[in-house]
Amino acid sequence: MKEEPQFRKLTQSMEKALKPERFEHSVGVAYTAAALGMRYGADVNRCLVAGIMHDCAKCLDHEEQLKICRKHDLPVQPAELSNKKLLHASVGAYLAEHKYGITDPEILTAIRWHTTGKPDMTILEKIIFLADIIEPNRKHFTEMDLLRRTIFDDLDKGMALTLEHLLIYLKKSGEEIDPTTESAWRFYNDRK
Ligand SMILES: [Fe+2]
Ligand SMILES: [Fe+2]
Repeated sequence: MKEEPQFRKLTQSMEKALKPERFEHSVGVAYTAAALGMRYGADVNRCLVAGIMHDCAKCLDHEEQLKICRKHDLPVQPAELSNKKLLHASVGAYLAEHKYGITDPEILTAIRWHTTGKPDMTILEKIIFLADIIEPNRKHFTEMDLLRRTIFDDLDKGMALTLEHLLIYLKKSGEEIDPTTESAWRFYNDRK
């Protein structure tokens, strides 16, 4: 059986592939995810690997990402055509597996769902989705302190609150919203 690539080696690959700011963000996501993994009993190494790799397709422009989808028959959702920030999640999961040799399906689905979220996520999927938003270099949301506190206090409440803030942010900025994000918000809002 082929051995899984190590966090250290993947970090070196990402440092080469990504722009410096994107790389710093990815390191932030990896260690924030590791901290959440410690808090919620997820495998810390999986958190590190999924965190460092989550944006591995961000170095490609939208056209290149679409080309990969066409070539390998990856499904493209309507929102992924109009909102160019979304497609790197499924292309990233593809590259993580086929270019960087990651075979762990838990890690691959965490990369796949990190931008939109979805209903009924695994712990690792939730951790990567949330770490992407609250890692120390992020400055998007006004209520960041509350988000960070809630996420470390209760993972599902953290999902509901983060998705709510994400939807408000997307509506304000006029970006196309993937319907999966809305169904994810309804799912976690009902569980609060
Ligand atoms: Fe991303
Ligand atoms: Fe990210």
